This record gives sequence, structure tokens and C-alpha cells, in this order.
Amino acid sequence: MAKKIVAGNWKMNKTYEEALALVSEVVNMVKDEVTGDVRVILFPPALYVSTLRSYVKDAPAISLGVQNIYQKASGAYTGEISAPMVKSLGIQYVLVGHSERREYFDETNEVLAEKVNIALENGLTPVFCCGESLQQRQNEDYKGFVKNQLTESLFHLGPEEIQKVVIAYEPIWAIGTGLTASAEQAQEMHKALRDHLSEKYGSPIASGISILYGGSVGAGNAAELFAGPDVDGGLVGGASLKSRDFTEIIKAR
Ligand code: 13P
Repeated sequence: MAKKIVAGNWKMNKTYEEALALVSEVVNMVKDEVTGDVRVILFPPALYVSTLRSYVKDAPAISLGVQNIYQKASGAYTGEISAPMVKSLGIQYVLVGHSERREYFDETNEVLAEKVNIALENGLTPVFCCGESLQQRQNEDYKGFVKNQLTESLFHLGPEEIQKVVIAYEPIWAIGTGLTASAEQAQEMHKALRDHLSEKYGSPIASGISILYGGSVGAGNAAELFAGPDVDGGLVGGASLKSRDFTEIIKAR
């Protein structure tokens, strides 16, 4: 069975003081209210992860991650952060291939394959994001487009390595728009992705890989979205910036 995960992607939001307040609230609410085996992952701006470690250390359900890494281990790449740096802080997770990185920073499937590799080489867990634009959704082969993102960035991995990857399906048309995929649309794509993984790696491996849904997940729609048998949790943007909403989403999983 795939692990249940609810992750919060803070994107480029929150000053330092605000970040400390938010993480404190989330830690307290999760400790008081969340039971069960859901893993909670916070992706704050990388600048804050070192400090935030001490805030989450008493909440075993909560882990930290960074929103991006560079595809090289070290060197003259001003402004970037590397997988070995993240590992050296004891941080476990990294987002790879968020649609905003693909769009604004021209990250290609090929570069993302390199990021996945360097994450895994350093013992990090990549949360690999995929998803189609509205235009692609209106085209008949939107499933083929998303499956190809997996093929080109993940399918070079062996059976051992693929099991260390988490996948997040985030239709671009549902990100930050208030438009959510329906529970049926989410389940349909999650099943297509799991079948795609199964064809390559076999069903036991495919069924163990967590596939998260992202795109306007909120306290009001999380339970319905998470009800799909192939939806193992969520990657939450805007609603993860509000501790109460985020906690309700975790409880819905
Ligand atoms: P929203 O939840 O704000 O739509 O963002 C989703 C997302 O991009 C998470 O990575």
C-alpha cells in the first residue's frame, strides 16, 4: 500500500516571522488533532528550513522539504542549492518539476531526470510533479502528455529507485485558480499514471508508489478528492498557508 501523504508547498510566501508562526500553529494542531499514519511534509522557502527543523522535531508526523534543487552537486552556480546541501541538513524531501519551475525556469523533462537522479544519489525523496495545461486537457491525448512526463524523467530508474519517488499530479489549470479537478478527473488520471507505472515496473511496485493530487485542494473538497482509490494524498498550495485549513485537509486524508 502506498503511503498517505499531505504536503504543503508554501511557494514564495511568508516572511521569517510569519513562517515561524505558521509552522508553530501547524505543529500544535497536528500534534493535538491528527491521528493515523498520514505523513505531513512542509515545503517552506529553502532559506528557512534549517531553523524550522527545531520546530518540527517534536512532531514525528511532520517532515520538511525544499521546493527545488540544482542538478549538479556543487560548483559555480550562483544562487542555486544542491542535493548534498539539503542532505547535510537532514532534510528528506525535494519537489522536482513543479509546473511553475517548468514554466518560469524552463525546466525540461531531461533536466528533471537529472534532478531526480541527484536527489536519489543523495538519499533524498523526490516528489515529482506532473500535469497538463488547459490547452492540453482540451486535446484528446492529455493522459498521454502526462504519462510521457513520467516516461522521460523517471522511467530510466530501476525498480529499487522508482519506489523511492513520490508523484504529484497537478493539472496546471487547477493550480491557484480555484478550479479543481473533479474527484472523477483526479482518479482517472491517477489510475492512468499507476497503470503506466505498472506496465513498466509491475503492479506490486506501482501500487506502493504514492500519487498525490494538487490543484486548489481546500478544507471543503479534500475528503472528496482523497476518496479516489488511487489518490494517496495531496500537494497543497494556497490552503497550506493557513494552519486551520491545512490541518483540516490533513484530517481529511
Ligand atoms: P494551489 O493549492 O494554490 O492551487 O497550488 C497547488 C500547487 O501548486 C501545489 O504545489
